[in-house]
Formats: sequence, C-alpha cells, structure tokens
Amino acid sequence: MAPELDDVHEIIQIDSELNKIRDYDILLERVLLEARRVVHADAGSIYVKEGDVISIKFAHNDTKQKSLPPGEKQAYPHFSIPINDESISGYVAMTGELLNIPDVYNLPPGLPFSYNTAYDAKVNYKTTSMLTVPLKSQNNVVLGVIQIINAMGPDGRVEAFTEQDESLVTHFAANATVALQRAYMTRAMIIRMIRMAELRDPKETGAHVNRVAGYAVEIYERWAYKHGVGRDEVDKNKDLLKLAAMLHDVGKVAISDVILKKPARFTPEEYAIMQTHTCSGARLFDDPQSDFDTIAAEVALTHHENWDGSGYPGWVDPVSGETLKADADGKPLRRRGDEIPIWGRIVAIADVYDALMSRRVYKEAWTEDDVLAEIRSCSGGKFDPDLVEAFFEVLPRIHDIRERHPDED
Ligand SMILES: [Fe+2]
Ligand SMILES: [Fe+2]
Repeated sequence: MAPELDDVHEIIQIDSELNKIRDYDILLERVLLEARRVVHADAGSIYVKEGDVISIKFAHNDTKQKSLPPGEKQAYPHFSIPINDESISGYVAMTGELLNIPDVYNLPPGLPFSYNTAYDAKVNYKTTSMLTVPLKSQNNVVLGVIQIINAMGPDGRVEAFTEQDESLVTHFAANATVALQRAYMTRAMIIRMIRMAELRDPKETGAHVNRVAGYAVEIYERWAYKHGVGRDEVDKNKDLLKLAAMLHDVGKVAISDVILKKPARFTPEEYAIMQTHTCSGARLFDDPQSDFDTIAAEVALTHHENWDGSGYPGWVDPVSGETLKADADGKPLRRRGDEIPIWGRIVAIADVYDALMSRRVYKEAWTEDDVLAEIRSCSGGKFDPDLVEAFFEVLPRIHDIRERHPDED
C-alpha cells in the first residue's frame, strides 16, 4: 500500500527535525522513537557495532514504561551480542540484510539463528513480531542495527510488520547511519591526534595515555556514582573523558624538541615554556558546540592545576592568551578547588599516579606503597580529597588497567 500524502508530509517533517539534532546519542534515540512511532511498534532497540560485537545503546518498551511511576525511566541491562549467525541481530549485523520475522517463537526451520528467549524472561515481556534493519554506510559497512518489536494493530493485538514498515524503518535508519558515520570520523581523527602526540613526546607512550585514560574513567565512574549522576550522563561522559584524557599532553606538540627531549633538569625559563603545553593543548579544541571539545579543552588546560591553588596555568583564556583573573602583580590568579573543572582534577590524579609508578629517563619507578602514600598525603593539597577517596576505592580496577597496558621497554 502506498503511503498517504499526509504520511509523506509527516515523514518529511520528521526528517527535517532529525537533521537539526547535533548530538549523536540524542539523534540515535530519536530515530528509534520515530521509527517505532510510524510503524506502531511497542518496543525496540538500537545497537552500535564495537569491534566484533554489537552493543545495545538504547531500548524502548511502551508496555513496560506504562507500568512505571511517571517520570521514571526503565533500567535496561547493558549487553553486547557477537556478530555471527547465531542470533537475529548478530545475523543482520553480519550479513547486512534486513530480517522481518512475524513470530520469533515460531521461526521457520532451516535458519542458522534462533531467538534467545532469555531476555524476554528476564524483563517479563513477550516479543512476537520483529523487524531488524542494518545501519549501513554508503560503502556497505554495517555500523549498527535497529530492531523494532511488536507491531500493534488497531485492536491492540500484535501483528506482523508489513513491507511498507520495512521501507519506513529503513528510511529512518539512514538518519542514524549518518550520525554514526560522523561519530566514527571524529573518533578516527582523535585517534590520529593521539598517535601524533605520541610521535612527538617519547614520555607520552601509547601505554601511558591508555592507562591514564583508563584510570580517569574508573575514578570518574566512582565519583559520579557517589554524587548521584544519572547513568545516561555517566555513559556519555565516560566515553568523552576517555579520549580527552588520552590527549592531556597533546599541547606538547608545540614545545621545541630541545626542551621536550632534554635529558637533564629544566632551567626556570625552560620550565615556563613547558608549562605552555596546557594552553596550546586547549587551543586545539575550540568548538564549544562539541561536548568532546569542551571536555578535551578542560583536561588539557587544567590537568596541572592543584586543589590548593598551587598549580598552573591559572585563570587564562587559552585562545586569546588573555588573563581572566589577575593577582596584585597582574599575573593570572591560580585556580583552586571547584574552580578546576572535574575533568582536570581527575586526570591530574591519574597522570601523577602513572608517572610515579613508571620509570622515566630521569628517574626510577617508585614502589607502589610510596606512590599511594604520596597520593594520600596530597589529598586536599594537590588533589581533590573526594577524588582521592574515589581513587582508593577503585584501586583494584586501576591495577587491572595497569596490567592490561604494560610499558613496552
Ligand atoms: Fe601535562
Ligand atoms: Fe602524562
């Protein structure tokens, strides 16, 4: 059946609204919502490809939602599905072919995949009709999967999805694909920046930046949990913080080799030049519209600030070089306490812990007992006491990360 003119008008309207959304997560969730709405589906999920699995990003279920008190959001387990022919979504991700199944509990014989009923049992819901559509880039690479569940007929009973439903969901899936491609491209560029910084500064090895990023995320998650930050926000920030933390010293690309690779102690002049890596780094992230740029700029600028106000560079605008708050001598006033963005405070601990634990050209590694005693003694001085506490609470996970990213030499 061809769509009515009103439907076409509505689709154009939805498209133009989707085009205005910049944030990748918001867009994915909105695509899921609209795709479900136009085909009258009760539930659905969006999965994003991560290596050789697809991970669930968003899940909706109107029936389950209605049973909750107003304002409350359903908690969904976070899980991944291997990309192979054993499951429906794994199969779609593997083959890049759409699957329209009228009843997942009555699959025709001879199919390689089966329906995993464990999830229905877990959330106490009955999945019947299921339309699974791949999110494919122009060059046919699968970036994710959108899965729409239980088409609701006018009498409130579950029906099979129609061919028109297939076209409609495929149409909206294209919007999600564009967003995913944009996100992948940004990520690829960031990874190139990380490699570039690594080439420039022999101390900023891949292992070091991976460890600092890993520690930072653990500390943040612990801190966020204690401060009641919502799960969605934590998930989103975690991802951005990880990349931003990897780039904490990217500003060192602007420091001369003579200073950067000097095997001896710095003169005061050299040290002052070295300190400018904070502002140079922050200048590389100057798009206030991008959440990633905001976090990356804050990490680069403030990872050498100290809780007690004894760090650097203080209140300066990295882009204009202007002093934002000056002391009596006209020098930038130091940032202290909460004036230092949380991201800078977190990376400061992660970076110092890793630097002290590692052997460098100019120093031997400390013993872990000494490092921990040092961090403890810096609580309230160099470091935010709240974060020092969080750091100690996640110490076993910090050790795991350290083991996973050993130094190459
Ligand atoms: Fe630094
Ligand atoms: Fe570092």
